[in-house]
Amino acid sequence: MEHYVVKGGNPLSGEVEISGAKNAALAILAASVMADQPVKIENVPDVSDIRAIVGAIEQIGGQVDHPDRHTYCINGAFVRDEPVDNDAVRKIRGSYYLIGALLGKFNQAKVALPGGCDIGLRPIDQHLKGFRALGATVRLVPPGMVWASAQTLTGSHIYMDVVSVGATINIIMASVMAKGNTIIENAAKEPHVVDLANFLNSMGARIRGAGTDVIRIRGVEKLHGTEYSIIPDQIEAGTYMFAAAATRGDVTIRNVIPKHLECLTAKLKETGCEITESDDAVRVVAVRRLTHTNVKTLPYPGFPTDMQPQIGVLLSLAKGTSIITESIFENRFKYTDELAKMGASVRVEGNTAIIEGVEGFTGANMNAPDLRAGAALVTAALAATGYSDIYDIHYIERGYEDFPEKLRALGACIAKVNTAEEERKAVNSFNIRIVG
Ligand code: EPZ
Repeated sequence: MEHYVVKGGNPLSGEVEISGAKNAALAILAASVMADQPVKIENVPDVSDIRAIVGAIEQIGGQVDHPDRHTYCINGAFVRDEPVDNDAVRKIRGSYYLIGALLGKFNQAKVALPGGCDIGLRPIDQHLKGFRALGATVRLVPPGMVWASAQTLTGSHIYMDVVSVGATINIIMASVMAKGNTIIENAAKEPHVVDLANFLNSMGARIRGAGTDVIRIRGVEKLHGTEYSIIPDQIEAGTYMFAAAATRGDVTIRNVIPKHLECLTAKLKETGCEITESDDAVRVVAVRRLTHTNVKTLPYPGFPTDMQPQIGVLLSLAKGTSIITESIFENRFKYTDELAKMGASVRVEGNTAIIEGVEGFTGANMNAPDLRAGAALVTAALAATGYSDIYDIHYIERGYEDFPEKLRALGACIAKVNTAEEERKAVNSFNIRIVG
């Protein structure tokens, strides 16, 4: 079975280049079908979630050109107003952005309910509430599809009951070509919300206030083609920052927007890491054992839930007792059972994890429960003594481009293997590297 084999114990060191933001790219690729002209999107990460949404766009008639690994040219002129449904669409979360995009373009959409990581209930009531406020009739219809339809979409004043990234983005897309003005209150402020708004504005939309909790949209007649480059991935960058810290390494993370990482650098500093920022890079140095801290996940600019497993690993190795409160998703501590196999001491009570830091981890066989938790378990394996095998890596490949390759360039012993023979070869190569 395909898995990662890891030999831990090497502090990560060197430089790593961050890819484009997966969650911004999913929204922007979906929005690209709204124009009847070609759109060129650069800095798209090469990960499986992206391939899934591109496949869905092609299935409904979108012309997709892929001139290089990180660039897509999409022409929405031939996109058909037809149901969006296939296995890949049902597996990923970001496919729900095609509801807002197609509703905005055709006043009608029928899209399979999304999947995504099993980290909680993940309702989409706020998305549907927003579509209804714009004048759409919305129903859940067999076989597990969202159907939304309107004679005319009309701007509205929408107050979100919870801060939702997905609902904010979906409502922006559905309202950019609606008649009149839309105001979204209590909007999500994440960097990818801002990136989506900037992208749509570059296509002629009139969106103001993205990045604050009130977003104002003046409906326009139509959108035109554009060229756009996706922002760097805040969570991929954070994952390498925390991997550097957990392995007591020295890593410079390049192609980042340091402002997006402030919630992470603040926590790393509290634990004793040294952080140096420049215009588009952050260097993380951890020379001694880190110390405990407490953290609560919150919408941006708070500490991201997508970094909660990674900080869980770090604090499991830090001196003293730390408390993590997960306030966004109710089922995001599954990784702590896997971490316990390595010797971590974590007690989960409801949405709180109480962590007694241990001196070190020992390698173990683990299963990635979801995307971010999977990446965090790899980090733990890199910090452990001995060998670990990590299974269910398809989760990790949904969101991390070249994960083993980038880690190897930082001195990690990690390989993706499929057979016992491949594993034996990988382990031999680790040992040769260490001796050499
Ligand atoms: C997005 O999910 C991301 N996914 C997630 O990243 C991320 O964890 C999450 O935002 C929070 O930052 C994508 O962008 C594709 P939400 P989303 O709507 O949009 C509740 C990753 O690893 N809620 O902001 O599904 C919800 O239950 C993934 O890359 C409602 O109650 O998250 C949660 O408690 C995992 N009703 C909170 O809001 C709704 O209609 C925030 O969810 C919508 C959400």
